[in-house]
Amino acid sequence: MAIRKIRFEGDEVLRKKSKEVKEVNEKTLELIDDMFDTMYDSYGVGLAAPQIGILKRIVVIDVTGEDPIVLINPEIIEKSGSQTGEEGCLSLPGKSAIVTRPDYVKCKAFNEAMEPIVIEGEGLLARAICHETDHLDGILYRDIADGPVHDVEMEEE
Ligand code: NI
Repeated sequence: MAIRKIRFEGDEVLRKKSKEVKEVNEKTLELIDDMFDTMYDSYGVGLAAPQIGILKRIVVIDVTGEDPIVLINPEIIEKSGSQTGEEGCLSLPGKSAIVTRPDYVKCKAFNEAMEPIVIEGEGLLARAICHETDHLDGILYRDIADGPVHDVEMEEE
């Protein structure tokens, strides 16, 4: 268990495409643990491996603080509806922008045991799945934002 250094926008690793995970070994499990530690430490709801400098298709998400989700090689297979709202990213600290995302997504992936899973998400979870999956292709929310990236008001947290 360890908190790893989060890479910030400007670091070119965030713009690279991550590689598919072929097998989960001890090192992968340690990486996933560290990703959760790093995400919770920064009060994030999601983190993708490239954000800590690892170009592997692994994402962790927890939108309630009680529902940790690991997605390995995630692929969005269905989406519907739309939601427009403020979105932030641990790699752009203190910033946010208005981003439109699907309101529902279905995503196939593998869990830590490399068993295939399907996860459905609405609202914030749908947003998080889209945001984190984008990271694996080098996409940041700035690229698809409806408006400018701006400083978050102190009160908003
Ligand atoms: Ni992000």
